Amino acid sequence: IPVDPFDLVIFGGTGDLARRKILPGLFRRFCAGQVPSDARIVGAARTDLDSDGYRQMVREALAEFGRDIACDEGTLNGFLDMIQYLAIDARGETGWAELAELMVGKGRVEAFYFSVSPALFGDLAERLQHWGMADEDSRIVVEKPFGHDLASAKELNATLARYFDEKQIYRIDHYLGKETVQNLMAVRFGNMLFEPLWNAQYVDHVQITVAETVGVGGRGEYYDKAGAMRDMVQNHLMQLLCLIAMEPPARFDPDAVRDEKLKVIRSLDPVLPHHIARGQYDAMPGNEAEMPSYREAVDHPRSRTESFIALKTHISNWRWAGTPFYLRTGKRMAARSSEITVIFKDTPHSIFAEDAGRHRNVLSIRLQPNEGITLGVTIKEPGPGGMRLIDVPLDMTFAEALGVDGSDHVDAYERLITDVIRGNQTLFMRGDEVEAAWAWTDPIIEGWEARHDVPKPYDIGSDGPTDSTEMMRRDGREWRKVT
Ligand code: BG6
Repeated sequence: IPVDPFDLVIFGGTGDLARRKILPGLFRRFCAGQVPSDARIVGAARTDLDSDGYRQMVREALAEFGRDIACDEGTLNGFLDMIQYLAIDARGETGWAELAELMVGKGRVEAFYFSVSPALFGDLAERLQHWGMADEDSRIVVEKPFGHDLASAKELNATLARYFDEKQIYRIDHYLGKETVQNLMAVRFGNMLFEPLWNAQYVDHVQITVAETVGVGGRGEYYDKAGAMRDMVQNHLMQLLCLIAMEPPARFDPDAVRDEKLKVIRSLDPVLPHHIARGQYDAMPGNEAEMPSYREAVDHPRSRTESFIALKTHISNWRWAGTPFYLRTGKRMAARSSEITVIFKDTPHSIFAEDAGRHRNVLSIRLQPNEGITLGVTIKEPGPGGMRLIDVPLDMTFAEALGVDGSDHVDAYERLITDVIRGNQTLFMRGDEVEAAWAWTDPIIEGWEARHDVPKPYDIGSDGPTDSTEMMRRDGREWRKVT
């Protein structure tokens, strides 16, 4: 279904995110017939370019980052025709009058994508208002990092609130746009099967792993100030935790869903020091040039920033009291694999012989790659060997089950941008959610800073430092293997 005609201004239009994600995402939706040809996309940045130069840059970006998009030259030109460029200085006067003039003629959705440093959010919002572009038809899209801690997030929220209503602010967490992440809600709230078991009485523990094989790459300067806790846990893993743990919202509408997520974050216990394992990857022996150590990559030989973190937390509410939630994320790990696993308790009593074997039901929800859901079920081993029990997966890999292939795949950014145009905030973070997440994260970070904690080294291609395995072993549990 096509969205209504819109004007989208991308501040930071020449930047990495615009070239990698936003523009290819828009192009893919355009090819799918979802973007009307009278929509307008305006790239805005400080760079001195004209619209032709910008269109050339977009063409190159699509060739590089939209290679999988099957589209003919005519369609590509149709897309490029919608695009123009304005050189704008967020803190100066350049370009603003032209932009305001371009935006006159109301009645269509106007979206302003702030794909720039958060330090500029306030300036952009203030100028949009000054030039009469912050009206009820307009919305702004902001990227993470949304603050560095609670105080800075509050300040950012307060700044944006001076010019825009919460209903106009779309805080992106691209994990919420991932197909399987939304499927989590469908699985939980569209089936009778799981919900009765979805509580501390039946669930032994939950593991959330987001493992990456990439290192910090060229983002060392940002990353070394952030670390895995701020970069991944405070936002992406926290959102996954909310969706797994929240109560059923009364309706699938933005505030009903976000109210329930907020309650989860507010119920999180503080994390004890011995329930945290932090790590930093070593260099790849023999290939230090291509795969340098974390400290080398960020050019900070004494850095204490973590590129890996594992932690255990509890949700102190009626449903989850007593069930630990283990979160883990890291760079340069064994595989790129994001997975949420719910490990159910043992049956209360086994009627089978002790040596028959005993297995727990494990529900694993794979976010990437090979999106899908697997449920481990205990059955009898086929054959004449007597009653021996084995664990077999009831496997539903979406690509196979639904016959979808890569080209049907809707990237998280595409989905989220169309949601912005449609005015659907369900998959965006509300200001109070972000603040609550920082309120939980801050003391954890302050704790290890006060203890002068140094992250433990781990091998590239491993599952993280031994502290992480040890933390699980002390609880009589094991991490799922990262594959
Ligand atoms: C970003 C983080 O938000 O998410 C990156 O800043 C990380 O450090 C990325 O690599 C992971 O996203 P995805 O979609 O590749 O899992």
